Amino acid sequence: MLKIGVLVSGRGSNLQALIDNIERGTLQASIELVVSDNPKAYAIERCKKHGVRCEVIRRKEYPTKEDFEEAIARSLQSKGVELVVLAGFMRILSKRFLSYFPERVINIHPSLIPAFQGLHAQKQAVDFGAKFSGCTVHIVDESVDAGPIIIQAVVPVLPEDDEDSLSERILKFEHRILPQSVQWFAEGRVKVQGRRVLIAGAKYGELPVNPALEKF
Ligand code: GRF
Repeated sequence: MLKIGVLVSGRGSNLQALIDNIERGTLQASIELVVSDNPKAYAIERCKKHGVRCEVIRRKEYPTKEDFEEAIARSLQSKGVELVVLAGFMRILSKRFLSYFPERVINIHPSLIPAFQGLHAQKQAVDFGAKFSGCTVHIVDESVDAGPIIIQAVVPVLPEDDEDSLSERILKFEHRILPQSVQWFAEGRVKVQGRRVLIAGAKYGELPVNPALEKF
């Protein structure tokens, strides 16, 4: 059983997807600790409901970012966490924090990175007129939303989309690719070779086109 820690700041629907898969028996992992930097995060209610251990660690309680991150790292390590999952955690972690969990911090981002990094990725995709967007699970490195990619899911962007409708379409796939990624770690199938991540035994190669190709 892979011991995971989940870092959250808000709603926690991706956390919920992990909890649901664990309860269903489709994810061979245990959530040893959830850390929220936001005392008002709805994710905390989800933890209470499902008996998941949760700590609130607030940035403002520590003099420096380093001290704040040390507190999070210590809590995770004290629970024996092997994989750290950022699920809507709204802070950028330092190299030092990452060094405690080498190649074992992952993040979910609501775009096909390297497109639309940073905040409001779904709005960026709509405003840009992208015909596809999607979501990515990647290994966290010092860059923001740009570490080695584990899995991406593609969704079409429709002419009538706004930020909310595209977010909703993408979110459904976030809830699938995040638990899938964690399960791959649990099965020991994730091989990181520089920027390239390979999943041993996975099937690669589906092809999406949007709008659909016509006969011409
Ligand atoms: C998700 O869209 C995730 O991709 C992004 O932040 C959002 C968090 O949503 N990093 P939730 O808190 O998991 O519901």
